[in-house]
Amino acid sequence: MTHPLEPLTPDEIRRAVTTVRAIGRLDEAARFATITLDGPSKEALSSYRPGDPIERRVRLVIVPGPESTVVEAIVALPAEDIVSWEVRSGVRPALLFEDSLRSIVALKEDPAWQQAIRRRGITDFDKVQIDPWPTGNFGRDIEQDRRITRCLSYYRESPTDNGYARPIEGVVATVDAARGEVLEVLDHGVVPVPTATGSYYPEDNQPLRTDLLPLDIIQPEGASLTIDINLVRWQRWALRVSMDPLDGLVLHSVGYEDGGRLRPILHRASISEMVVPYGDPGPVHGWKNAFDVGEWGLGRMANSLTLGCDCLGVISYLDATLANEQGRPYSVENAICIHEEDYGILWKHQDLHGGRTEVRRSRRLVVSSIATVGNYEYGFYWYFYLDGTIQFEVKLTGILSTQALNPDDLTPYATVVAPGLGAPVHQHLFCARLDFEVDGAVNEAYEISTEALPVGEANPWANAFIPVATRLDSELAARRNVDPAASRFWKFVNPEALNGLGEPVAYKLVPGSTPTLLAHPESSVGQRAGFARYNLWVTPFDPGERRAAGDYPNQHPGGDGLPAWTAADRPLTGTDIVAWHTFGVTHIPRPEDWPVMPVEYCGFHLVPVGFFDANPALDVPPSSGHCH
Ligand code: NI
Repeated sequence: MTHPLEPLTPDEIRRAVTTVRAIGRLDEAARFATITLDGPSKEALSSYRPGDPIERRVRLVIVPGPESTVVEAIVALPAEDIVSWEVRSGVRPALLFEDSLRSIVALKEDPAWQQAIRRRGITDFDKVQIDPWPTGNFGRDIEQDRRITRCLSYYRESPTDNGYARPIEGVVATVDAARGEVLEVLDHGVVPVPTATGSYYPEDNQPLRTDLLPLDIIQPEGASLTIDINLVRWQRWALRVSMDPLDGLVLHSVGYEDGGRLRPILHRASISEMVVPYGDPGPVHGWKNAFDVGEWGLGRMANSLTLGCDCLGVISYLDATLANEQGRPYSVENAICIHEEDYGILWKHQDLHGGRTEVRRSRRLVVSSIATVGNYEYGFYWYFYLDGTIQFEVKLTGILSTQALNPDDLTPYATVVAPGLGAPVHQHLFCARLDFEVDGAVNEAYEISTEALPVGEANPWANAFIPVATRLDSELAARRNVDPAASRFWKFVNPEALNGLGEPVAYKLVPGSTPTLLAHPESSVGQRAGFARYNLWVTPFDPGERRAAGDYPNQHPGGDGLPAWTAADRPLTGTDIVAWHTFGVTHIPRPEDWPVMPVEYCGFHLVPVGFFDANPALDVPPSSGHCH
């Protein structure tokens, strides 16, 4: 161990688990929902010097039994001290894989479910795919004090079929996932199972194109980056990268070297939550709204990436060390892809008077991972550019969630994507947690909107417009939405650090695709995903405020996370702040999204505004060899 921000090692995971098991408060049935590095605190990190002894804290979320109770334990290493042991009742962790499996096994043996499936002419239950879903919270008695799943069924003629092509419509089963007990099987009526296979395999989509010629990325001297454990350096950038079981890809200590000094920009950046509310009001689909961070976990679902397919060029991979539910470490190989890409031109001018042309190529460092959450894939891409810009992009792909439709049933809530097959409207709302430290801990948030001035003596040509900056002084005032017509953006300013022009240094958050939650605020998902009602929230830094919908959204009645924390309307001036940005897509499915979706993109940019005194990429040399 050479740095406090290095990921947990397999040995640290084993020692933490041994420590909590050794005190005799857990029985064999106890399971480990997540085992993660806790901290280091900002104080410990800023005072750390290479060679210092490092105390590591391991945070274990333990599920002691089948009730809705978790234990949050913190173990200090190397001392193996339990420094905290907190029992929390009435909360559920992200759906355990064991609970999912138990739900499937229990349901396949359940007579009521079997009868409902037989009613659809299906007698071979081995050909039925069951998808357990987190259930939300609708205040029903069968939800209380249990960890439950709600299960939907699909038909697979062969094991590699696309199950989502053949939903077994109308059957909704609720299972006590911890006890393997079927609580309820509802049959909302038979709809014919669609017949088309919806295959996206090459053998079923012949003939394939033959006119795509080779396109190779050649980097004869390698990539211009170095990696030391999880410290990535590329051009002026330095950052650390880790994989959290829930947040997925996490960046730490993102800084830019400028004049021999590493200037901090972000202390930590991650996707803190993401919700997928569906817009169909019917009994089979109206309850569907997955929280893919807090109910599933983007790191737990991370793919092992493949060279030449997921990433192209000279690639460096990082493996992710995670813990399984028995508390044993395992490795997701090639979970994080790190490479560089050409990105068109960086800047150019052709001087029409002097006849001289200068042009520079742009390139970017790419740090990415891809998670498969059930039917969907999410690719998470952080980009770092030569001019100090940071970009975050989500690539949404995979397979639509589907429903079978009677041919004469027209519904405004779904798009017909194949005969007898619909895909309900839904949203994907991500919330990025951006812990800024622009040239230091104390940052302030400003909203900048461009406004046209009234016509008058000061505006005789009626053309005038100006940027109007408003400091966001407290949490409730900092709940903001986009205004594209005003070119609105938000700026994170260090009031104590001035640039060479005498202005405070800053980075701005430039929003991209920014829907907000369409479900009513009083709806179940409206209560549980309150974060998604605003594109921006700002909070004073608190290490316990990690996820926009709270730590335990699974079956949570709502109100936790950003709405709860910001109710106190804490001040945001002269302090360390965290920005939370909600963005995403409202997905009205298209026929072209079937049977597998071409990537749809969403995200945002973080752009220096007076962080530098001039274009920081003037020192990028002209290309050699390519440009004649
Ligand atoms: Ni979608």
